[in-house]
Amino acid sequence: MKGVIFTEFVAFVELEFGEDAADRMIESANPPSGGAYTAVGQYPFSELALLVTALAKQSARPAPALIQGYGRYLFQRLAASAPEFLEGVSDPIAFLESVETHIHVEVKKLYPEAQLPSLAPRRIAPHALELEYRSCRPLGALCIGLIEGCADHFGAKLTVSTQTHPKGMTILVEHENAVASACSSQIGGSDHAQLSL
Ligand code: HEM
Repeated sequence: MKGVIFTEFVAFVELEFGEDAADRMIESANPPSGGAYTAVGQYPFSELALLVTALAKQSARPAPALIQGYGRYLFQRLAASAPEFLEGVSDPIAFLESVETHIHVEVKKLYPEAQLPSLAPRRIAPHALELEYRSCRPLGALCIGLIEGCADHFGAKLTVSTQTHPKGMTILVEHENAVASACSSQIGGSDHAQLSL
């Protein structure tokens, strides 16, 4: 995996649990690389698993919740490092739809060594998107966290529901604010006029 995933993970742990906690995590995980991560480095996923397992033990919090929290934090870091992907985009559903077809495609062009998941999108309604997550790394919780971070970024209320299956996870994302405003404009529009006749 790309070094940035590791440097940001350590930064997240420092922010959330303190610098000492990050040091203790690396010490008890004892990763083969030594744990002095650099953004330009490349490290195996197994090291991230070691770090998360160590953090789960010392913080008494379940690993998936930690990874999800990290994903939420990671989104704003990725967005800050690649603002061009967010320029002119105001709809979080359209943005999420473009991760597979545009963002990760560009990431792969820049970093051919990047190991990206498959996130096949299917628009099932104007305000609802299904993402089919597939990866050889079990990072579904990271994906949910990234979607939550995306909601934070757009100031949107996204409802996320998941269904895991042997090949991965089906994620349904619904944009609640958009549904609410569509409904209210309908009530104020022609339907309402007909009711008051
Ligand atoms: C500005 C937006 C984004 C950028 C620049 C970006 C870029 C990246 C990069 C560089 C990696 C690491 C690849 C590696 O370690 O080799 C990654 C991994 C990942 N990305 Fe994105 N990403 C973005 C948004 C998203 C969003 C919104 C989602 C979820 C819907 C997502 C889902 C994932 C997942 C789940 C992984 C972990 C790898 C795996 O599960 O196999 N990304 N992304």
